[in-house]
Amino acid sequence: MSVIPFDEREGTIWFDGAMVPWREAKIHVLSHGLHYGSAVFEGERAYGGRIFKSREHSERLLRSAQLLDFEIPFSVDEIEAAKAQVLTTSGLKDAYLRPVAWRGSEMMGVAAQKNTIHLAIAAWEWPSYFDPATKMKGIRLDIADYRRPDPRTAPSTSKAAGLYMICTISKHRAENKGYADALMLDWEDNVAECTGANVFFIADGVIHTPEADRFLNGLTRQTVIELAKRRGVRVVERRIRPEEMADFSECFITGSAAEVTPVAEIGPYRFTPAALTKTLMDDYLAEVQPQAAAA
Ligand SMILES: Cc1ncc(COP(=O)(O)O)c(C=O)c1O
Repeated sequence: MSVIPFDEREGTIWFDGAMVPWREAKIHVLSHGLHYGSAVFEGERAYGGRIFKSREHSERLLRSAQLLDFEIPFSVDEIEAAKAQVLTTSGLKDAYLRPVAWRGSEMMGVAAQKNTIHLAIAAWEWPSYFDPATKMKGIRLDIADYRRPDPRTAPSTSKAAGLYMICTISKHRAENKGYADALMLDWEDNVAECTGANVFFIADGVIHTPEADRFLNGLTRQTVIELAKRRGVRVVERRIRPEEMADFSECFITGSAAEVTPVAEIGPYRFTPAALTKTLMDDYLAEVQPQAAAA
């Protein structure tokens, strides 16, 4: 993996409607988004030159901003055109795309009604999130100390930058202990999601996953549920208590970056990635291919 810092790369970034040289896509230190976390973003992947569920990501970006009480001054169609331009200009067929929107600098108190809203979009090469060679072995997850916030505490269903503060802390703590990531519970101690992915379990051929009414309802999560149902596999969305993890035989996580990644261990619980997880991994990789959209 490249060690070149993200602000020192070659290329072009779409910035408020213009394509600017990568290293010049800068913001001022007095930006509301930096001080108060008034920023939202997306993480998307392009496969063979097509961004998977691109429009859904753009729509979610606008919704995330509205949940933070700001309007991105570009329409879904404009964002779609911008992302296409970024991907084409990058010369990449398989890429990760990162749109980010934030409040600017006109006001620097907590209130920000007059601040302009900015949008930037970058694309870069990002192979598999977790080591593909050992993928079927499954990753090891710690259980985070932090809980996903109550929707009365924060705009929990927004892909808001500020909500990732506890994700970074949790991921660091997990990595320091030798884990790949951490599973987070919700404020009522139900199983919720990982720091950047949703979680699924399997018992007796039935899939169980936490109901996504209190954290990000991932687009990959929605895709995998649809793929499972297409195969006639029952999917139950419900509250899951941590101790129930002892009853599940398989576990995997889903996300645009993580795709479908098998899990072998969560704290004291053990899983053996097997046929159904592998089927869904393969079905997902087939679904994201441009030919799948054309079919
Ligand atoms: C906290 C969190 N949950 C879930 C997901 C999965 O969402 P998606 O499948 O839309 O990428 C992500 C990734 O964006 C995430 O950051």
